[in-house]
Amino acid sequence: MIRLRVNGRDRELDVDPAMPLLWAIREQLAMPGTKFGCGIAQCGACTVHLNGNAIRSCVTPVAAAEGGEVTTIEGLADLVEGEGLHPLQQAWIDEQVPQCGYCQSGQLMSAAALLATNPDPDDAAIDAAMAGNVCRCGMYSRIRSAIKVAARASAVQFFDPATSEVEEASHG
Ligand code: FES
Ligand code: FES
Repeated sequence: MIRLRVNGRDRELDVDPAMPLLWAIREQLAMPGTKFGCGIAQCGACTVHLNGNAIRSCVTPVAAAEGGEVTTIEGLADLVEGEGLHPLQQAWIDEQVPQCGYCQSGQLMSAAALLATNPDPDDAAIDAAMAGNVCRCGMYSRIRSAIKVAARASAVQFFDPATSEVEEASHG
């Protein structure tokens, strides 16, 4: 039995420990937002968070997530305070990032992991963090713009009137 926490909920999975986490998420937990693209850690479509880090779930055995905290696209909005979308999801809509959409949950999860550790990334930091996420529709410039929009929105969100400063807050 594999025990892990997925999107804030404790789960037990009676599966082969070698099963890719991606299949556990999609088939066992019935959460289809995380996509299968290449299966060999080359496209990023399957990106989820394990303990806050962006990982490729297609090459991660479910046993490697034992006792860990997994976040999928279905739980992304819950990483921030309040109701509604994660600032990245809103920026994705505002900047009209998705085209076919297939890569987008992976893109969003990589971007969220980036902003959690670097709330104000420059182009180089964005490119480095997003290098493993392929978009066959070529939406890279919009992805970069949307990450910057979300970073600004998050800075406003974390503005602390008591100090009149924008906190260097994480999004966790
Ligand atoms: S499906 Fe995992 S990186 Fe492509
Ligand atoms: S939006 Fe089509 S692959 Fe990225």
